Amino acid sequence: MSSVDSQQRVLSGMRPTGKLHLGHYHGVLKNWVKLQHEYECFFFVADWHALTTQYDDPSGIEQSVHDMVIDWLAAGVNPGSSTMFIQSQVPEHAELHLLLSMITPLGWLERIPTYKDQQEKLREKDLATYGFLGYPLLQTADILMYRAGRVPVGADQVSHVEITREIARRFNHIYGREPGFEEQAEAAIVKMGKKNAKIYRNLKKRYQEEGDNDALETARALLKEQQNISLGDRERLYGYIEGGGKVILPEPQPLLTPESKMPGLDGQKMSKSYNNYIGLREDPDSVAQKIRTMQTDPQRVRRTDPGEPEKCPVWGMHKVYSDEKTCEWVQVGCRSAGIGCLDCKKPLIDAIIEEQRPLHERAREYENSPDLVQSILQEGRERARDAARDTLDEVRSAMGLSYR
Ligand code: TRP
Ligand code: SF4
Repeated sequence: MSSVDSQQRVLSGMRPTGKLHLGHYHGVLKNWVKLQHEYECFFFVADWHALTTQYDDPSGIEQSVHDMVIDWLAAGVNPGSSTMFIQSQVPEHAELHLLLSMITPLGWLERIPTYKDQQEKLREKDLATYGFLGYPLLQTADILMYRAGRVPVGADQVSHVEITREIARRFNHIYGREPGFEEQAEAAIVKMGKKNAKIYRNLKKRYQEEGDNDALETARALLKEQQNISLGDRERLYGYIEGGGKVILPEPQPLLTPESKMPGLDGQKMSKSYNNYIGLREDPDSVAQKIRTMQTDPQRVRRTDPGEPEKCPVWGMHKVYSDEKTCEWVQVGCRSAGIGCLDCKKPLIDAIIEEQRPLHERAREYENSPDLVQSILQEGRERARDAARDTLDEVRSAMGLSYR
């Protein structure tokens, strides 16, 4: 079995909600594209999560999955640099979800803020279901399945990473205790050699007595470098620094996705439900049309009325797309009524269309070769399953389920 560097692992998922828009692009997707070069990344389509709220009519899910995957690829998520897959094609997630459900107190799930919130918000649906209550636990399984140390999410998902941490801690506490843990850990320290053993003991002391987090990090780095100890010993020593048992499932950290600065057409947050969005692959004519008809500063009724960019959503978009010179031109021209709103919108339209050009090109290539997309997902699925099975083997054995 391979050892996993969880600090280097990133996992994130998205529910298939159909075609993505520029808000997703400037928020989540550009972040993923960057992360894929810095970490070992797993990105997946959370189609089971979609079912928790769309169980009554799943007919649109398949198309949404397809559109979303093409959007990811168009945005530059690269199957050579990251592993992309569909959740339901890695059934191991379901087994881990089940096993974790054994140790998950109901109250933990009931107390998650998104649980009541979403039920209120989606009143027309009956969400008093087992599956919906388990939404954050399924997400926990997604994360722990890959022993991912970092989970890029928006602020609304932080509570789900938090419960993941709690469940990992509980799991390790219950199943990481083995008879003779201390003796085994002490024996493992010795195997690192005199010098490293001394460093490890020092760091452990610093962490335990002074709560020094740097010491914890340094100790983890030290353990990572050790060639002479087994994976089991490494897990013991990870756990021993903190005083507990073996760390079987490491606790992840949320990696907060920077808010997209791209406003919607009406100046609110860009969102499908507000119908104020520009699609990631919107065609150029439609982009121009949407921008041209955007509401501007309401005080600017006539061309000769001066305006105030801060009161205009077009300005918010210039801040994302335009260079300093153009921004200056907008501000001066708007406030002096030196330019009209259509003049102002022109460079913005051009910039968006220009940015989208390579996305359209990539999307077209993939749309024209469904086999290629199939094989990307197939390969992603295989890679994901290999990693998933490694974790599941350990979990099964920790829970007394390693039958021969
Ligand atoms: N719940 C997440 C969302 O709605 C999607 C998701 C499912 C996810 N599993 C995950 C995100 C695991 C991060 C990690 O956006
Ligand atoms: Fe908005 Fe530009 Fe018109 Fe000013 S000139 S109101 S910033 S569109």
